[in-house]
Formats: sequence, structure tokens, C-alpha cells
Amino acid sequence: MDAQLSQLFDFLRFPSVSTDPVCRDDVSACGEWVYRKFVSMGLPAAVHGTPGHPVIFARSEPRAGRRTVLIYGHYDVQPADPLDLWTSPPFEPRLADGIIIARGAADNKGQILAHILGVETALASGRELPVNVVFVVEGEEEIGSPNLGGFLRAHAEELRCDVVVISDSTMIGPGVPTLTYGLRGIGCIEVRVTGPGVDLHSGIYGGAVMNPITALARMLAALHEAGGRVAIPGFYDAVAPLRDWERTAWADLPLTEARLLEITGSPSLSGEAGFSALERMWARPTMEINGIGGGYQGEGTKTVIPHGAFAKLTFRLVPNQNALDAIRQVGDYLRANVPAGVQVEIIEGHQGDPYIVDPHSGFGKAAQRALRETFRSDVALIREGGSIPIVQSFKEILGADTLLLGLALPDCKAHSPNENFPVENFEAGIRLNQALLREIGGVG
Ligand code: BES
Ligand code: MN
Repeated sequence: MDAQLSQLFDFLRFPSVSTDPVCRDDVSACGEWVYRKFVSMGLPAAVHGTPGHPVIFARSEPRAGRRTVLIYGHYDVQPADPLDLWTSPPFEPRLADGIIIARGAADNKGQILAHILGVETALASGRELPVNVVFVVEGEEEIGSPNLGGFLRAHAEELRCDVVVISDSTMIGPGVPTLTYGLRGIGCIEVRVTGPGVDLHSGIYGGAVMNPITALARMLAALHEAGGRVAIPGFYDAVAPLRDWERTAWADLPLTEARLLEITGSPSLSGEAGFSALERMWARPTMEINGIGGGYQGEGTKTVIPHGAFAKLTFRLVPNQNALDAIRQVGDYLRANVPAGVQVEIIEGHQGDPYIVDPHSGFGKAAQRALRETFRSDVALIREGGSIPIVQSFKEILGADTLLLGLALPDCKAHSPNENFPVENFEAGIRLNQALLREIGGVG
């Protein structure tokens, strides 16, 4: 196996699941691997401890008069469950027909390592780098980057840069170079409903007390209107309308609704009326129930009124919504809709604001040139539905815009079983990094 690919396989073998306390040592060992990689290519690097998982920092020798590019990525991954749906173990990377299969292959180890190897290749050529490079590779992206904002603030001087580069998103189709100019924001809330003091016999007491699962189901059903809109008062007030050019351009993109049906395996597409699927995914806010529990989950029946029930919700936000405002709106709405006979506790989780940037700025055009040169094809300009909460903080804390150059494919199965990343995209990412740094270095 080629040496670069074998390094990616080593990187993928760490079960660096940031949310799982059992994996804590694996997460820091993975960060250590990234640190050693930087040192081995001759870049001064540091492991910055945080109350959570470490941030790995590295930089090329700063030269005055050169632009500075901050390259960000994450070495943590989402949990691999459900394990039985994987065709091979998630942390034993495997190559099948030119496609790497492992948790983290696309999100984000394959993509960030491509940038690291791009810089390594440029350094090995013996020529000067066209820009100063700063790397920030964190271990908490998949849990909302709770400590990275503090890191940026504490090290704002060292991290000063002209532009941020991130490959942690998708290309619109195989071989179609893609510049993403918008991401959705996110907010998280958990709802815990309690009723009777213990699980009760549902025959003896049914009819006398409120069932917490019924109460929760009513609250959750009230989150959406029949037409798919979020029913929370004021939720859409700050939403910036789609621009005409976006609607026209997106209608011609190669990611069709038929293809989305194939990728998702859903029997039909669904969502807010009046918008195409891409518009709903990229430019409209949503409310999702990510998990729900309560009551008897075993074989057969058990006649109980459960003591409690819970649901985990996240909502996606678009410009110009504000994540803290939205969390408050959602919490207030839930609290105002509690059926009689239960108590509700609302637990607020992490949040991140949406992001949008001009794809035609000087750096945006440099990115488009690098993409065109690398893939020899016209560049698609898209927004995406996922969130990278720190991107808006790069703008607020460091004053820098972010170029989002996704290398994963729409069917990369990020967060799902059998996550994958084509070797071809890994190699293209290594070339893209070099073209991009050259183009940014040349921006007048
Ligand atoms: N790389 C993704 C985000 C992404 C995916 C952006 C596809 C654009 C296209 C990132 O690692 C991720 O999954 N983020 C989480 C954020 C969260 C846990 C705070 C997300 O979007 O759910
Ligand atoms: Mn992710």
C-alpha cells in the first residue's frame, strides 16, 4: 500500500469517539499521533490540553510578507453504532474498489490528513511554502467544540491569519469541485418528562394518571405544522430569504431529488412546502428529533405507565438566525406546552451560529481557481446543511473568513454505518492543498 494511504489507515485505527468517556485515552492517543505527524514533517507543534480533549497546533516558520492560512480539521469521530450494520469493523480500515471504509474516513480524518500531506509534500520539495501555514486540529468537533472558542481567544495572536481553510464537507458529485459558501447553525435541547414516582401497572392505574410518553409525544408533535414548517412562534423571524441566483443555480446541480432518494433510502422526500430538497437542506431551518426513549423496550409486552420519557432534539439554523435566541424560543415553547400531570425538565446543549460568506471574494476566487486546476472541471457553488460551529467563531474571534472545500461525496455515510472516502478524493485533496496555497499566496 502506498505510504500516504497507510498513514491514513493508521490515523483511522484510533477509536477517537469524543462523546464516549470510554474512549478518552484513544482520543488523546489519536491527538498525539497528529502531533507526531507534524513534528515528523519538520513543523513546530504543540499539544494544548483542555478540560476536554486536546487541541493540536502546528505552524510553519512565519515569514513576513507572506499571507497566513489557518487550516482547521478534527481528529475526533462520531460513535460507530449500530455496529452490526457495518460490513467490516469501523476502526479496522479497509479498501474496497478504491474506497476506504472506516469511521472517520470522510469526517474528518481523510480530509484533514490530505491537507497535512499536501503541506508535507510542498515542504519536501525543498521550495519555500507560498504562504505561512497554521494548523489547528481539534478533538471535540463532534461534541460542539466546547473548548475551541476559548483556545482561539487565548491564542488569538499566534492564530492571526488572512483566511481559514477547511475540508470537512462534501463535493456535490464525484469529480465536481465544490466551494461551500454557507453552513447551517445548530442548537441542542433534551426534554425529560416525568410522571408517576415509579413505573405503574397500566391496568390498575391507567386512566388516573398522565402517561409521560403520551405527554412527550404531544409536545413533540406540536413542534411542526402539518405542512412541515416549525410551529414555534418567532422561529422564522430572522431567516434570510433565499436569493434568486441561488434558487436558479441549485436547480441545475447534479444532486437531483432522484439521487437523494437513492442516497437516503427514504420512500419519499419530505419537508417544508414551497422549497426544493436542496433549498430545505441548505437554506431553511429545521427541527429534528434525534433520539427518544422511555417505557418498556424488551421482547413482548409489559403493561406499565412509565415513570419518565425523554427526547433529544437538535435544530438547524440559517442566516440570520442566532443560536442562543433559537434555544430560548424552543425552550419557552416546550415549557408552554406541557400537558397537565407531568413535569418537564429542559436541558440546553451546545450551539453554533450559521455561516455565510461571499464565494466571489479575492480568496473565494483563489479557491475556485485551485479547485478548477485540481479537478479540471467547473466549480459548483453550494451551501450545506451540516454545521461546523467553530467557523462563525473564526470570523468573530480571528476576523477571518473560511473557505470550505469539501472532499467527501454526498453518499460518504458520515455519522452512519460504512462511512467511506474514495482514495481518489484523498489524493485530489493532497494536490488541492498545494494548488490552493499557491493561489492564496498569489492573491494581490
Ligand atoms: N463535517 C461535519 C459537518 C458537515 C457535514 C458540514 C457535511 C457540511 C456537510 C461535522 O463534522 C459535523 O458532523 N458536525 C456536526 C456538528 C455538531 C455535532 C455540533 C453536525 O453537523 O451535526
Ligand atoms: Mn461529523
